Amino acid sequence: MIFYFSGTGNSRWAAKTLAELLGEKLIAVSEAFASRQYEYTLEEGESIGFVFPTYSWGPAPVMVEFVKRIKFNNYSSNTFCYMVTTCGDDIGLSVDIWKKALGNITCNAAYSIQMPNNYILLPGFDIDSKELEEKKKSNAIGRIESIAHEIKLHTHKIDVVKGAMAWIKSRVIYPWFSRYSMSDKKFAVSPDKCTHCGACVNNCPMQNITMNGNSTPQWHGNCAMCLACIHRCPTRAIEYAHATQKKGRYFFK
Ligand SMILES: Cc1cc2nc3c(=O)[nH]c(=O)nc-3n(C[C@H](O)[C@H](O)[C@H](O)COP(=O)(O)O)c2cc1C
Repeated sequence: MIFYFSGTGNSRWAAKTLAELLGEKLIAVSEAFASRQYEYTLEEGESIGFVFPTYSWGPAPVMVEFVKRIKFNNYSSNTFCYMVTTCGDDIGLSVDIWKKALGNITCNAAYSIQMPNNYILLPGFDIDSKELEEKKKSNAIGRIESIAHEIKLHTHKIDVVKGAMAWIKSRVIYPWFSRYSMSDKKFAVSPDKCTHCGACVNNCPMQNITMNGNSTPQWHGNCAMCLACIHRCPTRAIEYAHATQKKGRYFFK
């Protein structure tokens, strides 16, 4: 079975493609959270896969929260477990952080896949050019096929792009991000642009957005920082303070 979390669709695409190539069941972590489903029974020989985006050089914190609660019936030391993380560039020490979060479950293989960047909250960070977006997507197809092939063979392997200064990024910036940067208080809606279409409500994987009395989106403090609301708003009515005003928007089509 493959568990996935995705904000703007890259990891959903990766998880779905892997599930098809491997003939595996696909489980959306957002739905598992909503239904508080944390206990799973493995069939004989079934492997466990986790697919998620890298956030601030670590696993998306929502996945860490999820995996800490998960319980597998029939798990044994023979169960093959792997992680695949999508990222814009590099993932630092995400694999070490993920292995620790897994507790008694052993992670046998780990892969990173470069996909179009969706991080736009800090100065100097923006979505990729159309050309780079297409190049990353086209490379990702071959990459996921070879990952699926290796997973099928239960290959024990770590094949990731850690990038420069991985220790500082993952041991200093990631903990700071997980602790202090997950607030949804800075999301703001432009009343002139919002058409009250509900796309932000429907695309929030955390069910963290509702329409208030005036049919204006309202965030409720359970944000995964996936930026689906910003990127998928059809009228660009949502900003994150001033940080996103001149930035592009992206989601996987
Ligand atoms: C909050 C946040 C932090 C991110 N941090 C990183 C990072 O540390 N390294 C990186 O290469 N990409 C980073 N990205 C980009 C995403 O990992 C990448 O675009 C990913 O494929 C998005 O997956 P999704 O479409 O499934 O949500 C970040 C994105 C967000 C929203």
